[in-house]
Amino acid sequence: MEKATMSDTARLEINGQEVELPLIVGSENEVGIDISQLRAKTGAVTVDVGFKNTGSTTSSITYLDGEKGILRHRGYSIEDLAENASFLEVAYLIINGHLPNAEEYADWDTQIRHHTLVNEDMANIFKAWPTGSHPMGQLTALISSLSSFYPDSLDPHRSEDEQHRTIRRLIAKMPTIVAMLMKKAKGHPLIYPNNDLDYVSNFLNMTFKNVTEDYEIDPVFVEAMNKLLILHADHEQNCSASTVRIVGSSHSNLYACISAGIAALWGPLHGGANQKVIEMLEGIKADGGDASKFIAKAKDKNDPFRLMGFGHRVYKNYDPRARIIKKSCDDILNKMGINDPILEIAKQLEETALADPYFVERKLFPNVDFYSGIIYRAMGFPMEMFTVLFAMGRLPGWIAQWKEMRDQNQPIGRPRQIYTGETNREFVIMENR
Ligand code: CMC
Repeated sequence: MEKATMSDTARLEINGQEVELPLIVGSENEVGIDISQLRAKTGAVTVDVGFKNTGSTTSSITYLDGEKGILRHRGYSIEDLAENASFLEVAYLIINGHLPNAEEYADWDTQIRHHTLVNEDMANIFKAWPTGSHPMGQLTALISSLSSFYPDSLDPHRSEDEQHRTIRRLIAKMPTIVAMLMKKAKGHPLIYPNNDLDYVSNFLNMTFKNVTEDYEIDPVFVEAMNKLLILHADHEQNCSASTVRIVGSSHSNLYACISAGIAALWGPLHGGANQKVIEMLEGIKADGGDASKFIAKAKDKNDPFRLMGFGHRVYKNYDPRARIIKKSCDDILNKMGINDPILEIAKQLEETALADPYFVERKLFPNVDFYSGIIYRAMGFPMEMFTVLFAMGRLPGWIAQWKEMRDQNQPIGRPRQIYTGETNREFVIMENR
């Protein structure tokens, strides 16, 4: 870890003893207090439930300023990337640290096309699941099962080349697996990958084509999908990325780590919110469309209801991803000629919330999940698939976070605690209790 060069230390007094703690300053002048020697010097640990003030690592992948609403990957703004790049290009950037030149990109693209097929036995796994199983549960299992098909991944000390092959395999197979989830849920025959197609077109073809009919890939869909995947590609040390890093810190294989990340993403407070947003908007519509009633419910501390797709741990300003998605939502629905009444409800809900002191004081704004589901739905994805699509977009970010952690040779993640339970007591045999 880089240490600050000036006399940059914090001083802490504990039990009459003063300790100096070095500061770590990031390239955007963020300041962290390095407490790695705190326990050795004082016997005390820090407590920060939910890690609201804890930097778990230094990282050079993503920069986020939640107060200003800034998001950059490897120095490039999310607005620039969403406007100009393809998802596969952004995946390369996030994982490798630089934008690929034409040759690097051609190689990356070819390698990924080469790995799109999955073992036929993977389809057998579906036979064990009851109809209607949630695809996020299936996705965790399928991604983890790749370690059975590629047992070389279990060796934590493989060469860099072998590690890169696992990374390319995973990126290549993710759309094939996600499309399988859609087809199996419908009971339709699978569509195999067509390696003549680019990453996103191939995914759309496997998902929406039927064996019985021709399917024309709509460029509007391709553009929308690319953009949505890019907007989800990484988000620094969030719940799922931290999960991937901590699981990986025990040298678990990459497939298992990503599977753990998918499990963390599933929750409605994280990526699962995109499904919940549409359920909420449908609920408002069914209830007559009065957004203010739901705002009142969200403000009521005795009601567990929260405005889904609103609020964020780090954004205390408009989530820049939500801003881009909101605009795309209008564009894409217009281009598709779709008039979805829940888009109007969503806009009304946003307007009402942003004018309400409860939301203003707490700096609660729409997040990435607020408008994304409306686009997914317009494209023909069922609601249960929305978080799966988030996972597909987040994959390069999880891989980059895992890779950075391993490249830095970080130690196993193992937090401390402050024990508040019973002190030593004698065992009482059952008859005497
Ligand atoms: N509706 C109503 N009140 C809210 C909401 C909401 N969506 N979000 C936060 N608050 C209130 C919360 O009750 C608390 O109020 P008070 O200070 O009076 O107790 C205050 O705002 C701060 O909230 P918090 O729960 O302490 O904030 P957090 O940083 O722990 O939680 C969050 C962040 C995203 C979990 C939360 O805002 C939330 O539950 N939002 C809805 C779920 C959602 O949309 N999640 C997707 C997040 S973005 C995609 C991703 O990357 O995961």
